Amino acid sequence: MQKLMRGTMPPLEDDELFPSTPGKVKLERALPISRQLQRCFASTSTTFLWALFFIALTASYLSFQTFVDTGSRYFSASWGGIQWEKQVRNSAQFHRSGGMSVLVTGAAGFVGTHVSLALRKRGDGVVGIDNFNNYYDPSLKKARKTLLNGHGVFVVEGDVNDARILAKLFDIVAFSHVMHFAAQAGVRYAMENPHSYVHSNVAGLVNLLEACKSANPQPAFVWASSSSVYGLNDKVPFTESDRTDQPASLYAATKKAGEEITHTYNHIYGLSITGLRFFTVYGPWGRPDMAYFFFTRNILQGKPITIYRGKNRVELARDFTYIDDVVKGCLGALDTAEKSTGSGGKKRGPAPYRIYNLGNTQPETVPTLVRILEKYLKVKAKKNVVDMPGNGDVPFTHANITLARRELGYKPTTDLQTGLKKFVRWYLSYYGYNHGNPVN
Ligand SMILES: NC(=O)c1ccc[n+]([C@@H]2O[C@H](COP(=O)([O-])OP(=O)(O)OC[C@H]3O[C@@H](n4cnc5c(N)ncnc54)[C@H](O)[C@@H]3O)[C@@H](O)[C@H]2O)c1
Ligand SMILES: *[C@@H]1O[C@H](CO)[C@@H](O)[C@H](O)[C@H]1NC(C)=O
Repeated sequence: MQKLMRGTMPPLEDDELFPSTPGKVKLERALPISRQLQRCFASTSTTFLWALFFIALTASYLSFQTFVDTGSRYFSASWGGIQWEKQVRNSAQFHRSGGMSVLVTGAAGFVGTHVSLALRKRGDGVVGIDNFNNYYDPSLKKARKTLLNGHGVFVVEGDVNDARILAKLFDIVAFSHVMHFAAQAGVRYAMENPHSYVHSNVAGLVNLLEACKSANPQPAFVWASSSSVYGLNDKVPFTESDRTDQPASLYAATKKAGEEITHTYNHIYGLSITGLRFFTVYGPWGRPDMAYFFFTRNILQGKPITIYRGKNRVELARDFTYIDDVVKGCLGALDTAEKSTGSGGKKRGPAPYRIYNLGNTQPETVPTLVRILEKYLKVKAKKNVVDMPGNGDVPFTHANITLARRELGYKPTTDLQTGLKKFVRWYLSYYGYNHGNPVN
């Protein structure tokens, strides 16, 4: 079923509702009438009527011009228009008492899709926004959008750096919460395209916070930071109060900057802020740039996989966290977030600023990950073991989740075996056994 959905984009319904050349008919009819004008003006008794007619004609011409102006926006841009606004409003509508209206950024991304679905399923209103960039295969993002559409979640195509789109959305909907996932993810890609990290994780974040602080009412703001902020910290497990001033990658530095930037908006404008430090999230509909995902693809295609090893031949380890557990943590953060205190850009009192680890507390080595994948794929991996280059990856992560457990009711229940089994089942149903390539 999912395979059928791939590559099929929902039609742009907006276009169908407007005539392609409005007003054309009116102009053609006006020409012969104007030729009769001089003749008719000879009669003074009709002069007054003709003057009225001219005023009407000018007025209709002017209104035709404005129609063309707004019309061209309906036709060329991917957002705006009566139908579009209706879709936004419907999608934001909640269906339970005390429900919330959430703006989810990065909604066509891995975590954004799962959180949007979970919110919708329990009756909350969700409007998504995503720029569908091609950092990884955009057809996977389109497929997630189709999945969301099928569940009544409308995803706007736009960039969080676009102040006009954000202003429009806040104009249409009084969002109670913003769940911010839009970001340039990935650690190693920063050496190829450093500016994309500044664009989305710094400039985009500030633009979104500007929209939030000006909104009336101000929404509560929950966003995805990252375990990477712990950087060169080697005290385990990682606790929220540990030092985070030694990032080992540009990605980590922009996430750390996000924690500081959100703090200033909390301090100056009274925005309620919750930052969530995710630890290696994995699962169905996951991200193709992550090891568990491309290991799976390569193993199935019979291609070798590269396994990095840390200093002194120590295996790399990650606190792999299953997507359903992270989703529960995100919902817990939304549910416990107190209201922002400001309005119209003015602070009225102190608002909470919170940060939580969302991990699994069960680090597993990369060779263990590969062994589990081999088991469920029923294919042996061709392994290349090499020493880790110093490109930003840290040797291990391990979350202390005491705080999230206590304050968000967060309680991860999925181990790596169970989670990867579900991932592999999804992968095979989505891509087929060999991802369109012959197994050698
Ligand atoms: N998956 C993990 O293991 C993990 C770990 C730590 C932190 N995080 C953070 O969690 C969040 C979600 O991660 P994910 O794994 O779902 O990544 P993802 O790349 O699948 O999702 C991010 C989405 O945001 C969109 N986006 C990027 N820049 C945008 C912009 N400027 N405007 C609008 N949309 C934009 C992308 O198109 C993408 O669909 C990110 O902030 C990421 O940094 C993820
Ligand atoms: C885990 O976090 C809690 C809450 O911040 C803290 O009190 C505790 O000391 C931490 N545990 C360890 C082992 O660091």
